Amino acid sequence: MDLRNKTLCASGFHAPERGHIDILEDVLIDIGADGAIKAIHRPGEPNYRSIRDAREETGELVVLPSGSYLLPGFVDLHVHAPQYPQLGSALDVPLEVWLQQYTFPLEAKYQDMSFAKRSYGLLVDDLLANGTTTALYFATIHQEATRALVDVCLEKGQRALVGKVAMDNADECPEYYRDASPQAAVEGTRQLIDYVRAHPDNGEGRVLPVVTPRFIPSCTDATLEGLGELVKECGCHVQTHCSESDWAHGYVLSRYGVTDAAALDRFGLLGRRSVLAHANFLTAEDMERVRMREAAIAHCPLSNVYFANAVFPLRAALDKGIHVGLGTDISGGPSASMLENCRGAILMSRALETGVDPRLDATTRSTFGPAQIDFRDAFHIATAGGGIALDLPVGQFKPGYLFDAIVIDTKAEKGSVRLFDELDAGEQILQKIIYTASKPNIASTWVGGLHVRLP
Ligand code: GUN
Ligand code: FE
Repeated sequence: MDLRNKTLCASGFHAPERGHIDILEDVLIDIGADGAIKAIHRPGEPNYRSIRDAREETGELVVLPSGSYLLPGFVDLHVHAPQYPQLGSALDVPLEVWLQQYTFPLEAKYQDMSFAKRSYGLLVDDLLANGTTTALYFATIHQEATRALVDVCLEKGQRALVGKVAMDNADECPEYYRDASPQAAVEGTRQLIDYVRAHPDNGEGRVLPVVTPRFIPSCTDATLEGLGELVKECGCHVQTHCSESDWAHGYVLSRYGVTDAAALDRFGLLGRRSVLAHANFLTAEDMERVRMREAAIAHCPLSNVYFANAVFPLRAALDKGIHVGLGTDISGGPSASMLENCRGAILMSRALETGVDPRLDATTRSTFGPAQIDFRDAFHIATAGGGIALDLPVGQFKPGYLFDAIVIDTKAEKGSVRLFDELDAGEQILQKIIYTASKPNIASTWVGGLHVRLP
């Protein structure tokens, strides 16, 4: 049911700040005609009862059943929409081979509009069903297919940021799949921005355009310069890959003599609305630069296992106060589920702290130091952290924030959460949700107060 102009009575969880879970018990959430949260009333506040009674009388009150928990919708900070047909395959070679052997040939197919529409429709349906209410998408180099992705998101009601991929470097991109020139890359990006902003169904700005240089190796200097200028002009979000693997990191060092973060900064591509995917090999200086620019990192824990050659030091980045969100990196990561990526982030953080070589003594197995995160940090980056990264009012339940939310039905028989009333209460319930919930537990999805879960 749509919840605009309604009041939802619900229990649930959100994590506006790292390290702390705010437990909501029978709160009343007033949602406005614009899909934003107008007010939240907690039991114990003086007028709670009278507000509840009044809403009930006018038929505006919607009550979640017991055993159902409200969570902010997930913010997937890094998705390659065209790679969905490849999810769960092509994971047997390093990044630079994977791009040429599997990924560029697949992305080139989006010239075919019937393939593009079918694939994008399936992806957006599946992500919504997985509880992803906001996605930051790389599309392909194609204008028409990228517009189709924008249309699909608007039609199905997903909040999305969509970029036409810019890639024109003939040394790294095959002839069959690259922008014809820097002008084509930059003007194509501008045309997509104009399309999104003028779209007749996008009055609320639910879809936003993103300047998307694929990564430095795939772009010429002229394209990177042109896109930097365009960002200045349009004030758009920016997304790119940054220091992902040994090869990608080394390529930029040998081309420019500086790191990705420093080079992106020079081109004017590192700002408050920039999202750097992976960022595994950031130096201490890079981290400081990213923090100062208030840019964000999309942590992609599952993808990193296959392509990064290292584990992203998530805890260190969070301790430093850097904006970090979580990304599936479909199809570098083999799961479309943000919950599975939460688990991946926790697992890899633990491996980084302990080390993994059993032949080494416990004291020398890892020299990294404290690196573990827990379910609280994972949940934070999957929701509020993503919203902060994008500078959008999503991922938290607060007045002024958009009502982008999901319901976890812990009683769903076909689901995988098993609670025991005698044992499970408070945060423990969220912990079990993060570790064990699956698609059948996701009972409802709202974006901007509109119910978008498909039948
Ligand atoms: N670097 C450049 N392109 C890509 C991509 O599609 N996926 C990942 N994981 N890394 C990239
Ligand atoms: Fe990626």
